[in-house]
Amino acid sequence: MKIDILTIFPEFFEPFLNTSKIKHAIQDGHVEIRCHQLRDYAVRKHGNIDDTPYGGGVGMLMQFPPFYEAIKSLKRVGTKVYLLSPQGKLFNQKAAQSLANETHIILLCGHYEGVDARVLALIDGEISIGDYVLTGGEIPAMIVTDAIVRLLPDVIHEQSSAEDSLSHGWLKYPQYTKPETYKGYTVPDILLSGHHENIAIWRKEASIKATLMKRKDLLKKIKMTDDEKKILENIKQQSK
Ligand SMILES: C[S@@+](CC[C@H](N)C(=O)[O-])C[C@H]1O[C@@H](n2cnc3c(N)ncnc32)[C@H](O)[C@@H]1O
Repeated sequence: MKIDILTIFPEFFEPFLNTSKIKHAIQDGHVEIRCHQLRDYAVRKHGNIDDTPYGGGVGMLMQFPPFYEAIKSLKRVGTKVYLLSPQGKLFNQKAAQSLANETHIILLCGHYEGVDARVLALIDGEISIGDYVLTGGEIPAMIVTDAIVRLLPDVIHEQSSAEDSLSHGWLKYPQYTKPETYKGYTVPDILLSGHHENIAIWRKEASIKATLMKRKDLLKKIKMTDDEKKILENIKQQSK
């Protein structure tokens, strides 16, 4: 997969691209990520890419021509283009899974007061990472890229991403590692039993319980099996 990121701060991405799983995914050829300086596509002198809004108002807007030129130069057949924007569709695990199936995406990072609205005519969608306003699209682009890359084949253990919170709607069950006991804080006995079938049952219940307790809102969206419905009802009864 290829990801092109358009930004006026490509240096922002250096540590991100050179750390942990992203670095390895690039080195192992699972993904190609290129950051482009939007100023290189400026049509005005000195890489100038912003100006005041027509009709008046505070702040500066990023101009349309640099985005137009950059997209024209980078876009290929099948490329999907997204603008990071607080006005976009809220990003979630499902969206990450869908983007991970693309072969080439271009992420546009806004800054200042945002971008000239004509950019919307060139894109496939706007992506928001949450209902708050950030200074620029760089951190959102990193979040989207990170969420996508860890879903690409062989980047992390496939079972691990399949069991991650939200991948099937549910939050992940609680996990523990060594030591078994520390200052009186212990690990649930079942996880030390070596009985894989019982552990799987405990994890399923713990996952459903975590979702009910922490993110009740998710329950409406999950397509539950009859078994899961029964477990959920039991947990609700027990907590009454
Ligand atoms: C200060 S914001 C502009 C906000 C714009 N004036 C508005 O009210 O919609 C500058 C840039 O940060 C990025 N940005 C800010 N918040 C974001 C969010 N929640 N999700 C994705 N991108 C965001 C976008 O690229 C945006 O163009």
